[in-house]
Amino acid sequence: MSGPDKTQGLAGQRLLLCVGGGIAAYKALELVRRLRDGGAEVQVAMTAGAQHFVTPLSFQALSGQPTRTTLWDSAAEQAMGHIELARWADRVIVAPATADLMARLAHGLADDLVTTLCLATTAPIMLAPAMNHRMWQHPATQANLATLRARGVQVVGPNDGPLAEGESGPGRLAEPHEIVAALAGQAAAQVPQDLAGLKVVVSAGPTYEDLDPVRYLGNRSSGKMGFAVAASAARRGARVTLVAGPVQLPTPAGVDRVDVRSAAQMHAAVFAALPADIYIGAAAVADYTPREPAANKIKKSSESLALDLVRTPDILAEVAAQTQALKLVVGFAAETNNVAEYARRKLEAKRLDMIVANRVGIADGGFESDQNAMTAYWKDGERSFASAPKTRLADDLMDLIVERLDA
Ligand code: PMT
Repeated sequence: MSGPDKTQGLAGQRLLLCVGGGIAAYKALELVRRLRDGGAEVQVAMTAGAQHFVTPLSFQALSGQPTRTTLWDSAAEQAMGHIELARWADRVIVAPATADLMARLAHGLADDLVTTLCLATTAPIMLAPAMNHRMWQHPATQANLATLRARGVQVVGPNDGPLAEGESGPGRLAEPHEIVAALAGQAAAQVPQDLAGLKVVVSAGPTYEDLDPVRYLGNRSSGKMGFAVAASAARRGARVTLVAGPVQLPTPAGVDRVDVRSAAQMHAAVFAALPADIYIGAAAVADYTPREPAANKIKKSSESLALDLVRTPDILAEVAAQTQALKLVVGFAAETNNVAEYARRKLEAKRLDMIVANRVGIADGGFESDQNAMTAYWKDGERSFASAPKTRLADDLMDLIVERLDA
């Protein structure tokens, strides 16, 4: 897939990577390699805990620089003192940021090399947290996170998924390519911050409507379009909540993600995320759900089976109709035929500010594909976007959204 260079903006940057003591420390090795591939100069500092997981020598081999492990190394201090190192950095990345390290940073401790460097630097700091999901969700960690964010620290991840202890939840270190993309995004000063101060809620992916404990009604949405839209809004400075149906995609940098399964759950999560300035409904929400999911597996009996389905709430129409005035409500329309006509009908019927229509049921676009083509319609205008990667289309759509905000 062609697309923007994810390492753009890293060339020539002096990056100080602080590695915390978690199993995810091994992924920081890959991060060093990718940062250097992007043209950055990388120096690595490790906590004592980190050295239990990965050796300083490994980082030294990949960074091409001596790895710093302690405040009390007179030879290293002679080469470049820790204050000098803190000044040297254009940016500091803490990956993995463990719960303990976040707590120490939030409280301004300087009890080892890493915390001292973070306290002594004036460079922007980015954290990539990784820990057990219960530790991540603990109010103490969330309070530390809020403190650090309030001080301007950027946070990428953690991702949701299987954790080292055999459990699953939010706590996985963001993938190295996501951290690189987040850093590059931070560096890309050319990205206009024209959504700064605005809250954007995006829905993405399919919904699954359970028929019984083993079967469900679903659809082919992969979430790629909605995730790209959420990522694009976040890059432009918006606070973004992404309400995601069941998809296998990493959380875009800087986006708050709420995972749901059914249309009813998506409805609840969207309304919980309001108030907002902009709502973008890119999810393929089921229009019908079983009246009563069976408590036990439905058994084969007769030759045919009729399902008793009832309408789901129309999330988009309800958002557009609610009293808190959003600045812009944008829907998507997935159509197999009469695309323009059906899209305009939905624009009117659901009282939207804009609808983005795309053809589905085709090989190279719509559901699942990395590419798409679409046309946005509003009351007295329209704009077509030729086939392109969904990531690029999301940026073009965001340009239009910003234009329509000012219209
Ligand atoms: O996820 P991908 O694989 O990347 O594919 C992208 C996409 C094709 C899913 C996306 O581009 C798209 O078109 N999303 C809308 C799909 C859809 O359900 O369209 P619709 O025409 O059925 O619904 C119209 C609008 O109403 C949509 O904004 C939908 O989110 C919303 N809706 C529909 C039903 C419902 N109960 N609640 C809703 O909010």
